[in-house]
Amino acid sequence: MRLVLCESVAETGQVAASIFAARVEQGPCVLGLATGSSPLPVYQDLIRRYRESEVSFAECVAFTLDEYVGLQPSDSRSYRATIRDGFVDHVDLPVGALHSPDAADPDPEALRQAAATYEETIRLSGGIDVQLLGIGANGHIGFNEPSSSLASRTRIKALTQQTREDNARFFGEGETVPKLCLTQGLGTILDSRHAVLVAQGEGKADAVAAAVEGPVSSACPASVLQMHPHATVILDPAAASRL
Ligand code: GLP
Repeated sequence: MRLVLCESVAETGQVAASIFAARVEQGPCVLGLATGSSPLPVYQDLIRRYRESEVSFAECVAFTLDEYVGLQPSDSRSYRATIRDGFVDHVDLPVGALHSPDAADPDPEALRQAAATYEETIRLSGGIDVQLLGIGANGHIGFNEPSSSLASRTRIKALTQQTREDNARFFGEGETVPKLCLTQGLGTILDSRHAVLVAQGEGKADAVAAAVEGPVSSACPASVLQMHPHATVILDPAAASRL
């Protein structure tokens, strides 16, 4: 695991974006995209590079990490819509090349089938070359909450109360944050060729310290990255403050 200690939030975005841009410049590739606020500086820098004709995503394929159960892809609160709004619609990545777990139908059998289909689609694409990750305050990556199997694949997962409260800001007052999601598993994330985790802010400092310096344990799902052959963790000073 390589750690990059940055001086600012903006620099975390620049460093991660330069890793993505370098891979994209090599030719067709498969990107793993993440939602949440942590990756936003990365997307901003990649959008800037695209506008300045430094990089093109026309030959890329992309997979998102996770999706809330019960939201239509067109729902502005869905992660598919969020990733389009924050990144894909601002660059030349074809919308048809954006894959996300189909979690709209809450029927358990439909969700199990959608999870298996997602794993197979990733496999058929050749696997994810560069996977962007944020980290939850409880150490989750994707929506792999504490207690997730380190070998897990894409599956249905229940969100913790803390995660639902953390993400309530993306939902309107009186709207219920979904209780279930489909998420790539920790094993799926471990299969990516390069995992790039970005974290900013003091609220992530404990989770980062556990992920980087703690034992590899499902108590902190991000600690699984210690077993990843090519993982880069990019931190601002506040997120690195408890290392
Ligand atoms: C959600 C996402 C995660 C993300 C986490 C942290 O739970 N499923 O992929 O890393 O939020 O979000 P933020 O970056 O907004 O703190």
